[in-house]
Amino acid sequence: MPLVSMRQLLDEAAKGGYGVGAFNVNNMEQIQSIMEAARETKSPVIVQASRGARSYSQDKFLYHLMLAANELYPEIPLVLHQDHGNSVATCKSAIDLGFTSVMMDGSLMEDGKTPSSFEYNVKVTREVVELAHAKGVTVEGEIGVLGGIEDGHGAGGTGLEHVTDPEQAARFVEQTGVDALAIAIGTSHGAYKFSRKPDGAVLKMDRLIEIHNLLPKVHLVMHGSSSVPQDLQDIINKYGGKLKPTWGVPVEEIQLGIRNGVRKVNVDTDNRLAITGAIRKVFAETPEKFDPRDYMKPAREAMQKVVAQRMTQFGQAGHAGDYEAIPLALMAEQYAAQPVA
Ligand code: 13P
Repeated sequence: MPLVSMRQLLDEAAKGGYGVGAFNVNNMEQIQSIMEAARETKSPVIVQASRGARSYSQDKFLYHLMLAANELYPEIPLVLHQDHGNSVATCKSAIDLGFTSVMMDGSLMEDGKTPSSFEYNVKVTREVVELAHAKGVTVEGEIGVLGGIEDGHGAGGTGLEHVTDPEQAARFVEQTGVDALAIAIGTSHGAYKFSRKPDGAVLKMDRLIEIHNLLPKVHLVMHGSSSVPQDLQDIINKYGGKLKPTWGVPVEEIQLGIRNGVRKVNVDTDNRLAITGAIRKVFAETPEKFDPRDYMKPAREAMQKVVAQRMTQFGQAGHAGDYEAIPLALMAEQYAAQPVA
């Protein structure tokens, strides 16, 4: 099956009442981990690349690795998504390269750091929707501002400074025609999300439910959704790492989100932790080794284990064979038949 639009994957997820993990990649081993986990659990999957990942991998390397993944795992519906596009130009370059989905993060200015105005966000997001939908490509927008910084992108902070306003979210969807909406509910990118197990004071699941009730048909996206499991932290620290005590988003809170309209769940940090722990272990236990495969293989396996677990927990497991890909050209025709007001 060709690379699939994210819209189709999320529409199917809404029909089935499950969520789909969106996993960040920079290199071949991470892509292999995700594809093996998808095959093992029979899951449709979203693979996403930040601007940092695109520059690290020189774009084309990453894209061709994705084509290889698609060729080697033809039974898996596979989306290639631009994570946190900072400008219309970034999203356009992703579309030109062959990404089937883009995020226009107009919640921040082009510098990827400064919170923007609602009007600016609507303007740039709508521009991306117009050029993406003409090619059948999906668009994710963001309203409210997430906390933390990832790959140099982010406003920093705890994520509670710009929690999404439901009325504004409704206006944003109406005025832009986005396919999926990232909301800010207190999560942030990276390992240091919460200084204790999060409760409603810092993780605003009630706000998410409010937004879902107002916009029941909109596919919601939870960013910063790594759970930062204690066992992965322990492996890193046992083998010489120095992570400070920290908490992520508990899986049961993500599952509550999935029951309330969350269709895309972004996970990067948990996989980074798994990889680093596995590599540290090999270095510490067998310091005489120097073949990269000796530590990249266990790293790949450790990431596969985390991804497969998340696929099962998010409910996407078992759904890879539910549908055939809708060609992007047909998606474009469907968008053209329903223009944004
Ligand atoms: P984590 O840092 O929680 O994995 O979040 C990743 C993310 O939201 C990518 O956009």
